Amino acid sequence: MRERTIQLRRARSLVVYWREGRLFFHNFARQLTAAGRPLTCEVLSFFGEWRTSQEAQTHFADYTSRSLFSALSQLVKQGLLLVKDSPEAAQDDRVAKEWSGWLPEGSFHFSTKDALYAHENSSLARFKAGLPKTPSPRIFKTVKGTKKTLPLRAFPDSEFIRVLMARKTHREFSRQKLTLETLSQLLSLVWGVTGYLDASIFGKLVRKTSPSGGARHPGEVYVMALRVKGLRPGLYHYHPAQHHLNRISTNATRDKAWRYCARQGYVRNAAALFLMTAVFQRTMWKYRHARAYRVVLLDAGHLCQTFCLVATWLGLAPFCTAALKDTLIEEDLGIDGIRESILYVAGVGLPGPTS
Ligand SMILES: Cc1cc2nc3c(=O)[nH]c(=O)nc-3n(C[C@H](O)[C@H](O)[C@H](O)COP(=O)(O)O)c2cc1C
Repeated sequence: MRERTIQLRRARSLVVYWREGRLFFHNFARQLTAAGRPLTCEVLSFFGEWRTSQEAQTHFADYTSRSLFSALSQLVKQGLLLVKDSPEAAQDDRVAKEWSGWLPEGSFHFSTKDALYAHENSSLARFKAGLPKTPSPRIFKTVKGTKKTLPLRAFPDSEFIRVLMARKTHREFSRQKLTLETLSQLLSLVWGVTGYLDASIFGKLVRKTSPSGGARHPGEVYVMALRVKGLRPGLYHYHPAQHHLNRISTNATRDKAWRYCARQGYVRNAAALFLMTAVFQRTMWKYRHARAYRVVLLDAGHLCQTFCLVATWLGLAPFCTAALKDTLIEEDLGIDGIRESILYVAGVGLPGPTS
């Protein structure tokens, strides 16, 4: 930042907090965090609108132009001040506009993207060393009160119960390919439209095999086909009403799948990944409170459980993972991570010999 007439403005994607007595400024859209002083708040407050450093000099007349200019340059580097017409300012505008109803609480979505996962750079021993020194919390809660014994657990011999009991997370797969017919059934039974609702002022809404808060169905699904008979490896978008795939790229390799899922080895051998995103506006349009962000995540959980059960019923070996490289996936899918963002990844292969 050399030019004193360049216009600067405080980032709107900004959260300020104290941790262990130190003051921090966090640009959640860019995931930049910097320690600061209360004076930083005053400077940032001054830059609520586009202003030049020269104007700041007039306002903060007690400071030398050199120290003020150097402080402003630092704030730009830290992502707390933005330069007019820069790509960072455009991104900041888009986050503020798209998420206007759900900020600042919704900053959680952005702050938790692209995390560094323990297994990516650490052995089990190092992972263990990072755990709290206190014992693991008890796995059951027992409450005081009058006990009522329930009838013995006895289930009818039904396919539903067998599928329910057989569901588990698989991390070993055979080299066999998934057939296009099986993929089609899986997509249709999990993400396909099963009917429509007439929801008065909300118009025509969709029904699927999983529930969705307000029937908003913010979820979209993209298939990363790796080993599917009759389907060229690539990234595809699934149309839930028309039941077809649209190829968006041929960029699908075992290595890419591994990198999408934060370098978890077993993902390399999957036959297909199901990249689950959400189009937030569908839910935001009706629910103006950031609490509805929870609903979007809960919806994804419902879809994933349906996926695991349907895949098990189809004789497949399902898994799911939340350890994702969000930005990498979003770039490959051609989505912006603001209006539409990756939330969850599920995958399948054919069961391996030890499954
Ligand atoms: C939200 C969520 C995230 C998960 N993320 C991962 C993951 O990143 N890696 C993994 O190997 N398993 C992951 N799992 C699978 C769990 O480890 C697994 O469900 C658990 O160990 C219980 O095993 P089961 O599914 O066979 O009953 C995830 C499960 C859920 C529900």
